[in-house]
Amino acid sequence: MTRVAVIGAGPSGLAQLRAFASAETKGADVPEVVCYEKQADWGGLWNYSWRTGLDENGEPAHGSMYRYLWSNGPKECLEFADYGFEEHFGKPIGSFPPRAVLWDYIKGRVEKSGVRDKIQFNTACRNVRYNAESDNFTVTVHDHNTDVVSSSDFNFVVVASGHFSTPNMPQYPGYESFTGRILHAHDFRDAVEFAGKDILIIGGSYSAEDIGSQCWKYGAASITSSTRSDPMGFDWPDNWEEKPILTHVDRDTVFFADGTSKKIDAIISCTGYLHSFPFVDEDLRLKTTNRLATAMLYRGVVFQPNNKLFYLGMQDQWYTFNMFDAQAWYARDVMMGRISLPSPGEQQQWIDDLVAAEDLIEDDYGAIDFQGAYTQDLVDQTDYPDFNIPLVDKMFKNWKKHKKQNIMTYRDFGHESPLTGTIAPPHHTPWVEAMDDSLETYLAAESADG
Ligand SMILES: Cc1cc2nc3c(=O)[nH]c(=O)nc-3n(C[C@H](O)[C@H](O)[C@H](O)COP(=O)(O)OP(=O)(O)OC[C@H]3O[C@@H](n4cnc5c(N)ncnc54)[C@H](O)[C@@H]3O)c2cc1C
Ligand SMILES: NC(=O)c1ccc[n+]([C@@H]2O[C@H](COP(=O)([O-])OP(=O)(O)OC[C@H]3O[C@@H](n4cnc5c(N)ncnc54)[C@H](OP(=O)(O)O)[C@@H]3O)[C@@H](O)[C@H]2O)c1
Repeated sequence: MTRVAVIGAGPSGLAQLRAFASAETKGADVPEVVCYEKQADWGGLWNYSWRTGLDENGEPAHGSMYRYLWSNGPKECLEFADYGFEEHFGKPIGSFPPRAVLWDYIKGRVEKSGVRDKIQFNTACRNVRYNAESDNFTVTVHDHNTDVVSSSDFNFVVVASGHFSTPNMPQYPGYESFTGRILHAHDFRDAVEFAGKDILIIGGSYSAEDIGSQCWKYGAASITSSTRSDPMGFDWPDNWEEKPILTHVDRDTVFFADGTSKKIDAIISCTGYLHSFPFVDEDLRLKTTNRLATAMLYRGVVFQPNNKLFYLGMQDQWYTFNMFDAQAWYARDVMMGRISLPSPGEQQQWIDDLVAAEDLIEDDYGAIDFQGAYTQDLVDQTDYPDFNIPLVDKMFKNWKKHKKQNIMTYRDFGHESPLTGTIAPPHHTPWVEAMDDSLETYLAAESADG
């Protein structure tokens, strides 16, 4: 029997399990699937852990999520096309739920599919090796439940281990003299820790914007954000200022490229992540940066040098859960022989063309359309339900406008479900006043905060 190994049970790996389950429900003979997940539960980044550094098994802690994280994009833009929010929660809910609510939604679909028994939890993949003579892979895993390392062979491997867990951590001159705390966004867990402090945020993307906003919301004395590229340019609150990149640090003072300086209590490096796959052999290792057109992946999924290996969710992400689904359905159909692949040369040409097309994108609106078109292309090739991608593109653009209008209120808007057409009701509490991010409080009819 054909055997498939899936590495990781986050949204991407779970999409792969769901894709096979869906084919099986429709009567297809599906391969045997084994999913290895190094954490004790599923949901990937959405499965919050307080741990930093190493986890309870001595593995690098996967989590980059923090307390009080609310979805940064409208939930309608990531809605699974085969399992809507209304179906899960039994009622319409706001557009920007906190982490626990999204985790509940992710779990709901796979609980219904009955795929949990395909996952070996607490089991870290140590190595993936390709055997040319037998045209298969040997996958070696460490089962921390039994403390046994073992290997078995598979015909296909799907790497779904995420790429927002290994910090990209630059160093600036004088860090060694800094008197406060220096941490990467990966290790940020609770904004309350920074109440009353003067915070420096390095970086100009989502983590910088959101971790800075969290610290502001939970009472930091001031936020200073420092970027090497354009400033974020939002209409920030009075105690938040934007600076060019820092040049150096001297004990408690940070100096910036414009010649100014500021006393700082903590530096939070929101400087992105590295694609890191220490568990695959060199000839199987994806090497790419965080971009929309990933190198080495035909259709953004199939590893061009070895078509029996797949990588899911490795793109920079506007689209998330529904794009991972589209990828998983595509990978499934390649593995099941429903989709045949072109020659290696044609695959490389497809990748080169996509990279060249991404290089021509002028702004975020172009990037949204680009990833929407990429996702549509995949959806069109499988039986994954077509969802209203033009509407999703439009909602992303409206969301960007709301952020420009007021960065602290964009989460108070409601967006339209591409599945049901329902416009999300306003949440009972504006985001700036909602201090409790629990599922119970979020789903309650009234605010618990007062
Ligand atoms: C702070 C933060 C906030 C985010 N917020 C949003 C948001 O609001 N909305 C949104 O749509 N997206 C958001 N994202 C994007 C996020 O990438 C996706 O939502 C999603 O979690 C990606 O799913 P994934 O399965 O590809 O990766 P992950 O969620 O990272 O899951 C990968 C899984 O693989 C497992 N794994 C890794 N290595 C191994 C190994 N060697 N052996 C076994 N298992 C392994 C991990 O334990 C993990 O469970 C956010 C990302 C970050 C970092
Ligand atoms: N609430 C939420 O939902 C939430 C919160 C946080 C994060 N996220 C998600 O997490 C993912 C990752 O976002 P991210 O912001 O961590 O990473 P990212 O989007 O890759 O951005 C990395 C940032 O770091 C900067 N940078 C990189 N190296 C640097 C250096 N040496 N010096 C100074 N700046 C440097 C980059 O600047 P340049 O532009 O100059 O390269 C960029 O601004 C995204 O998918 C995002 O949606 C979501």
